[in-house]
Amino acid sequence: MKHIDSAPSTPGKFKMEKSPYNNRLRLQSSIAKLTFWSFVFLGLIFVFFFRSSSSPSSSSSPVSSDLSRRSLRTSSYDGPNFEKRVRASSKIRSRNGISVLVTGAAGFVGTHVSAALKRRGDGVLGLDSFNNYYDPSLKKARQALLENSGVYIVEGDINDVALLRKLFDIVPFTHVMHLAAQAGVRYAMENPSSYVHSNIAGLVNLLEVCKSANPQPAIVWASSSSVYGLNTKVPFSERDRTDQPASLYAATKKAGEEIAHTYNHIYGLSLTGLRFFTVYGPWGRPDMAYFFFTKDILKGKSIPIFEAANHGTVARDFTYIDDIVKGCLGALDTAEKSTGSGGKKKGPAQLRVYNLGNTSPVPVSDLVSILERLLKVKAKRMIMKLPRNGDVQFTHANISLAQRELGYKPTTDLQTGLKKFVRWYLSYYVDGKKSSQ
Ligand SMILES: NC(=O)c1ccc[n+]([C@@H]2O[C@H](COP(=O)([O-])OP(=O)(O)OC[C@H]3O[C@@H](n4cnc5c(N)ncnc54)[C@H](O)[C@@H]3O)[C@@H](O)[C@H]2O)c1
Repeated sequence: MKHIDSAPSTPGKFKMEKSPYNNRLRLQSSIAKLTFWSFVFLGLIFVFFFRSSSSPSSSSSPVSSDLSRRSLRTSSYDGPNFEKRVRASSKIRSRNGISVLVTGAAGFVGTHVSAALKRRGDGVLGLDSFNNYYDPSLKKARQALLENSGVYIVEGDINDVALLRKLFDIVPFTHVMHLAAQAGVRYAMENPSSYVHSNIAGLVNLLEVCKSANPQPAIVWASSSSVYGLNTKVPFSERDRTDQPASLYAATKKAGEEIAHTYNHIYGLSLTGLRFFTVYGPWGRPDMAYFFFTKDILKGKSIPIFEAANHGTVARDFTYIDDIVKGCLGALDTAEKSTGSGGKKKGPAQLRVYNLGNTSPVPVSDLVSILERLLKVKAKRMIMKLPRNGDVQFTHANISLAQRELGYKPTTDLQTGLKKFVRWYLSYYVDGKKSSQ
């Protein structure tokens, strides 16, 4: 028996005698090996991470992959406190309420829409990059306003896939109100890539995340009247051609409408595009004419008033913010559910486009006359030829489709709306002593 025990258990292998000294030796050598291979493994991870973060070609979308890494490193998006704020803000407080992710919530329209949704008991979470296209302190002031009514705005970019996924993991949003965009027509000649970044890449990123979310949300998003471009048939109807954009901004909004069609067709996302017509009102955008005319009239500076060829009038279908908000809420309330799940379409889904305008274009010179009366200051008018940098001669909305299907009915004329804007402007900039730059 002893002979059998001492024989190698496997032919060719020698069975060691068991002693405490040998066991210790074996343990020490195992630890040394483990340590060595751990270092090798860690080294490989380090080299891989370093190479991938320094090589933009390692990703199909350098912007979004960079943003994903940045957001994952940003600890403020982690932890129970962040999740608690996101959940509290998105909590539905009314029967039949909806939970809405509002992108561009610190923007002009986004602030008003978020506040209106919150007022009626919907859950609202904001997302905004607070970029410096115009004075970010105005965006921060709007954020403070929303914070007071219980709306939390997460600071982040719609290109940040990791952040968007995280938000959808925390809250199963029923709707997305997508307003984040690079707005403005003329700035496209200065910074064209910002339009591609926010209005095209950002939109695609958002739709990618929405398509994979369970449940898929219904999406209402801001297109623009600018898609009518060089169209001369008035009033502009949703059936009119939109293939002659006069600016890169318009082209990116038109591209957005086509991208929306694709995601609706392939993934069953419910998508509604709203073509806003020159929105104005309190907490407005400083790059828009009614806003900087007010500033310059008060400062005694001359203001450019454009004229088309042969002394043609330049006119806009100015639409008051409260009317636009009602249109947005009408679109959210009539949006049907998306039909996909698990990233796959399960049936046909709703795809809509509506004009949201005022149906009464006003010449820009009349806008200035109203401002003069309200401000009690005479404007220094400088008549100039309309430059070919993206602006069109006039806009005029046919709103019968929105009227019929969304119950949209604008009620504020330009005189009444500008009165409210001027009151806000004076209290914010003059009484509030904020710098209008
Ligand atoms: N105001 C109008 O007259 C008008 C007319 C037609 C269409 N629109 C569209 O309506 C929407 C809202 O316009 P607004 O007037 O409130 O503009 P806004 O510039 O005040 O609001 C847009 C907000 O989006 C944010 N944003 C931009 N890029 C972002 C990104 N990549 N990620 C996250 N946030 C980002 C900005 O910081 C800003 O706060 C936009 O889509 C705009 O194109 C507006």
